[in-house]
Amino acid sequence: MKIKFFRTIWWKLLVSYLCLILITTVISYILTTATFRTIRIKERQMEIEIRVERIARIIGELCKEDEKIENIKGNFNEIARISGIPLQMLNPEGKVVAFSRSSHPKFRQIKNINLQPFEMRKLREGKKFSYTQYYGENRKKLYYYICPIYREGNFKGSLVTAVPLGLSRGFAIMLLNSVLIATIIAFILAVFLSRSFTRPIRRMGEAAQSMAHGDFTKKMKLSRKDELGFLADAFDEMSSQLKRNIESRMKLMGDISHDLSTPLTTIQAIAEAICDGVIDTEEGRKKYLESILNQTRRLSFLINDITELSKFEAGEVKINKTLFDVVEPIQRAVESAGFLAGKKEIQIEISIEDEKLQALGDMEKILKAIQNLINNAVQHNPPGTKIRISATKEKEKVLFSVEDNGQGIPEEEIENIFNRFHKVDKARTSGASRSGLGLAIVEEILKAHGEEISVTSSQQGSRFFFYLPYLDPASADVFLDK
Ligand SMILES: Nc1ncnc2c1ncn2[C@@H]1O[C@H](COP(=O)(O)OP(=O)(O)O)[C@@H](O)[C@H]1O
Ligand SMILES: [Mg+2]
Repeated sequence: MKIKFFRTIWWKLLVSYLCLILITTVISYILTTATFRTIRIKERQMEIEIRVERIARIIGELCKEDEKIENIKGNFNEIARISGIPLQMLNPEGKVVAFSRSSHPKFRQIKNINLQPFEMRKLREGKKFSYTQYYGENRKKLYYYICPIYREGNFKGSLVTAVPLGLSRGFAIMLLNSVLIATIIAFILAVFLSRSFTRPIRRMGEAAQSMAHGDFTKKMKLSRKDELGFLADAFDEMSSQLKRNIESRMKLMGDISHDLSTPLTTIQAIAEAICDGVIDTEEGRKKYLESILNQTRRLSFLINDITELSKFEAGEVKINKTLFDVVEPIQRAVESAGFLAGKKEIQIEISIEDEKLQALGDMEKILKAIQNLINNAVQHNPPGTKIRISATKEKEKVLFSVEDNGQGIPEEEIENIFNRFHKVDKARTSGASRSGLGLAIVEEILKAHGEEISVTSSQQGSRFFFYLPYLDPASADVFLDK
């Protein structure tokens, strides 16, 4: 699926990064300039005050005791030029007697500076003072500093300076440049970062898409240790699991169709032979009809087992737990296997220590499990084998066991016998109730009870056993009422 560029997570992530960067940059630029400006103004004020006071002292020393300040105009011009700051010199009456050429444009306009009487008083008392004025369209600050000139206690006049305060243009541009460079670097990083975040998501989408088309070869294989890495690992695991599931389903389908087609082919062949009149004797016809009956029985067993197993897998089987006498399902199962066992001269022995022993479970399902186990013991062992079925109380559980002294199951086969359609002796497929699903159904029944089936086997025989919860009949009523 093609996602529109403006709808991609990458784009959304990038836009959020960019907005964040922009906001942070603007705020930090404003804060930095404000801080720099304050520091710079303070420094400059101090520097100007020191310079002006020093010049006032020098002028004071140059001016003789009875001399007027106007007489040292020449010296003043020289000093003002060297000092590099705009200066004005006022006589004791507050009239401008000299001003430096390098004065600020604004300062030049106000060369006839008018000091107020109270300001003149302050100067005469030897006090310095300053004030700030704004000028021009940009409302720039102009800082005035006024300081008296003294010669041995005599007030000779005063010195005035006016300088613009604030960050210089060069400095502001430099600051702006650095901020711009940092922003561009952050932008480039944001592009790469957002890309690196969304790339694995994209790859995951592509892998999922190929999976949807039946291709399980695409793996994420991200070597990341974060949440995305975890997600990718889980995804790969899921894809392998799905592949295994699909393969086992395919095998199951193959097995089912094979097991269904064998009896059908036999039935078809016999029916054709009868139709064609190949079998002409009554005896022969009877023999073949019996064979048809056997094959249909086999088919019906197989279909029943498949239906039962698929119900378990679909979670449609309901377990109705009751407290039942263990004797009942065991006796019923032995009775149903009696005919076949008798034919093979197989003895079945029931061993229940306490006739009143009860277990908690779905009796009909447990009956089915015991039936399957007894059928197996009868079917897969030679004539003359003995089978022993027992139920005993063990701790807080009831132990059911179906034991035979037959041929046993080869060790390497034990782990496979519970697999669907697995038959140890594949050649012997003639048994009417052989579907290869018997043990798989037993396993599902016990799983539904929260229990499991176990097996031990040797050349002396096999033993299948499982547990069910035991309930003391006295407390059982309370439990079951709940
Ligand atoms: N009591 C037993 N003695 C020997 N082999 C057994 C016994 N029970 C089960 N098996 C082996 O386990 C296989 C699987 O059993 P099951 O799932 O019931 O399938 P089926 O009985 O239809 O072959 C059997 O084919 C058989 O080889
Ligand atoms: Mg079986």
